[in-house]
Amino acid sequence: LKDKELIRGSWESLGRNKVPHGIIMFTRLFELDPALLSLFHYSTNCGSTNECLSSPEFLEHVSKVMLVVDAAVSHLDDLHTLEDFLLNLGRKHQAVGVNTQSFALVGESLLYMLQRGLGSAYTAPLHQAWLNMYSIVVAAMSRGWTK
Ligand code: HEM
Repeated sequence: LKDKELIRGSWESLGRNKVPHGIIMFTRLFELDPALLSLFHYSTNCGSTNECLSSPEFLEHVSKVMLVVDAAVSHLDDLHTLEDFLLNLGRKHQAVGVNTQSFALVGESLLYMLQRGLGSAYTAPLHQAWLNMYSIVVAAMSRGWTK
């Protein structure tokens, strides 16, 4: 499938610098919804968004997120093998107070990061390919929410 080639090709360079790109993504996310910062229990240890994002705990989470993206890209041919992991990950995020509606902003921030990182290589088909993969990941995580 064309989607997979586009995703793999674009992640080849970005995936080698996960943390810097993850920082761009989360800087954007906290810009879009600053209230998300307070869901991290360790956010009381920092002042500004930039200060938080350079703290070890936040960098650790950024790195965890990027490893999940990396895992999804590596498993494009068998994303279903990540289902249980992603459901559990969703469960943990419900437990810390994340709302599934926030995933729209997370997606927007992911795409923003890709656009910033890829420049002119960021095309409409590539945008769509990532959106497709992201929606599968979000659907799987969302199954972890219970009412
Ligand atoms: C853990 C918040 C999005 C992956 C956590 C924790 C918090 C949190 C508070 C627990 C503390 C920590 O481990 O740092 C958020 C918020 C998000 C978000 C507010 C956006 C609305 C994501 C996304 C992914 C992700 C999109 C990956 C696709 C992880 C992982 C852990 C984690 C792998 C560790 C879970 C474990 O301990 O087993 N997140 N998160 N997070 N998050 Fe997120």
